[in-house]
Amino acid sequence: MAFPKDFLWGAASAAHQVEGAWNEDGKTAGIWDELCPGHIAHHESGHTACDHYHRFREDIALMKQLGLKAYRFSVSWPRVIPRPHEVNPKGLQFYVDLVDALLEAGITPMCTVFHWNLPMWLYEMGGWFCPEAPAFFEEYTRVLSKALSGKVKYWFTMNEPQCFIGLGYAAGTHAPFLRTPPEKLPEAIRIVMLSHGRAVKALRETAAQPLKIGYAPTGGCFTPESESPEAIEEARRITFATTSPFSNSLWADPFILGRIPEMMQDVLSAEDLAIIHQPLDFYAYNIYQSMNLNDRDGMLNPRVWPGLPRTALKWPITPECIYWATRFLYERYGLPVIISENGMANTDFEMLDGKVHDPQRTDYIHRHLLQLERAAEEGIPVAGYLYWSIMDNFEWAEGYDPRFGLIYVDYRTQRRILKDSAYDYAEIIRTNGESLHR
Ligand code: NOJ
Repeated sequence: MAFPKDFLWGAASAAHQVEGAWNEDGKTAGIWDELCPGHIAHHESGHTACDHYHRFREDIALMKQLGLKAYRFSVSWPRVIPRPHEVNPKGLQFYVDLVDALLEAGITPMCTVFHWNLPMWLYEMGGWFCPEAPAFFEEYTRVLSKALSGKVKYWFTMNEPQCFIGLGYAAGTHAPFLRTPPEKLPEAIRIVMLSHGRAVKALRETAAQPLKIGYAPTGGCFTPESESPEAIEEARRITFATTSPFSNSLWADPFILGRIPEMMQDVLSAEDLAIIHQPLDFYAYNIYQSMNLNDRDGMLNPRVWPGLPRTALKWPITPECIYWATRFLYERYGLPVIISENGMANTDFEMLDGKVHDPQRTDYIHRHLLQLERAAEEGIPVAGYLYWSIMDNFEWAEGYDPRFGLIYVDYRTQRRILKDSAYDYAEIIRTNGESLHR
């Protein structure tokens, strides 16, 4: 059997996308709470989202019903630290209760420290340009470690720095909707990198048990045009090119190999690198598509054909990307791989029989898992797969239309319905992947 016995079959979410309760129990605003007007489809916001803050016990009961082995959640920074140096006990208690409920349900909690909703107070001090941001991030991480590290073994310092910098600080399509001139961007990237390094160190120093620590990057990943050695080498080369904030190696070479990427030569010092380059336990990777067929910049891509299978967000469906990304990343970084996100947006709705039939998603999951299995069969250590997302949620600037969940959410009533794909995923989990071959 290719998937290891203790494989972490799970699902993921992020605080701002599911919790709601944006101004309750002492929480202050984050950039996604405050700066959204005018930037989100249908003028939607994450203020209520899935109301998971109040319904987490019901949601965990559904996760238990599915037999999830692991659940990756994130903590809302402004819920826990509503003002500089101030801890909000009620906000912190929410995560203690969440973790306790997961453990009681037999689900391994996996905690992401930062998944995008930067506190407004820090944004007003300069956000990822603020020289004190790494110290604030470390302080916040220490608070979480003290409260949760006895119960939570798996930690991710941050989610997709490629996107919160690339989309939030360069393209201006995500909060805080900035278009920083390219020559200034490395300064912000340096601050983010230092924040990661200090958080890893803080977790190691304060943890109540030995932890497994990583982060959850994404990045452009390319599939070889054929399996010839030349085509494979070419795909590997572009996968690790460092020409934009979305690069894989920009965000991994300094963290894992202690190497300064070209784009950062002028801003990173040897002392910085000593902080940034911390031992990590796994390479987590968020992956949805291979970039070969991506023509989102409106470029004419000769490889794209009319009717190419795409998700509701128009992302091409390219399952083999999981095999190649896992292989390339393992070859370069040598760490066990966790797929920390993979999934598809679909136009799901409640059908006449009261169920949500989503065969496209079931097929998507099967195809991607079979590719991950290929990597495992070739001896690459794959430690987990976390479907994105456990439930439909607030898809950032796209609002609520794209539905990624295994669980359908009716946002008018907050009623949950397990989709067909959820039952199928439960069977994959129960058989440790065997049902993929039936
Ligand atoms: C990446 C992000 O981590 C997550 O927040 C987002 O919803 C999914 N991918 C889908 O776009």
